[in-house]
Amino acid sequence: MSYGQQKVVDAPVTFIICGTLAAHEGLPQALQPSVDAGILNQSMFEGWVAMAKGSHPGNPQLQRDEAFRSASLAAMTLMLAAQGMGLSTGSMSGFDPLGVAREFRLTAAEVPVILVTVGYPAPGNWPQKPRKPLHEVIEFA
Ligand SMILES: Cc1cc2nc3c(=O)[nH]c(=O)nc-3n(C[C@H](O)[C@H](O)[C@H](O)COP(=O)(O)O)c2cc1C
Repeated sequence: MSYGQQKVVDAPVTFIICGTLAAHEGLPQALQPSVDAGILNQSMFEGWVAMAKGSHPGNPQLQRDEAFRSASLAAMTLMLAAQGMGLSTGSMSGFDPLGVAREFRLTAAEVPVILVTVGYPAPGNWPQKPRKPLHEVIEFA
């Protein structure tokens, strides 16, 4: 399912980070605790839910964009947390998404976005590779 990449076998854990194509359906439940806590008022709650209900259904591109956006944030957060615990991670897009969905019985709304292996740094691991200079990756408008 990951094209023979040995790291998924060697790592103690491989996370399958999934996004959902139905984020708009879960939005009321996701926001309700913030309403209950007095952080969001009722009109904000209703406005956000209405906005998502108006824009997401019937717009597969937006649903998929949102799934990838949210899952990518989750993956990076996981990687930073793991690194903070002295662990090593490997992000992987080299896998068969249909095979993963089938074997792990994902629903039609769940998209496997990225795999993240997590384990203990091994002797001989590559050091961090050189990064691009800041001016190549950021533009102030
Ligand atoms: C989205 C994404 C997908 C990747 N997929 C794979 C993969 O399938 N297999 C792999 O060996 N490396 C993959 N990589 C590369 C490594 O995860 C890692 O980012 C790369 O080795 C850079 O390491 P560095 O942090 O030491 O610079 C991927 C990287 C990214 C950002």
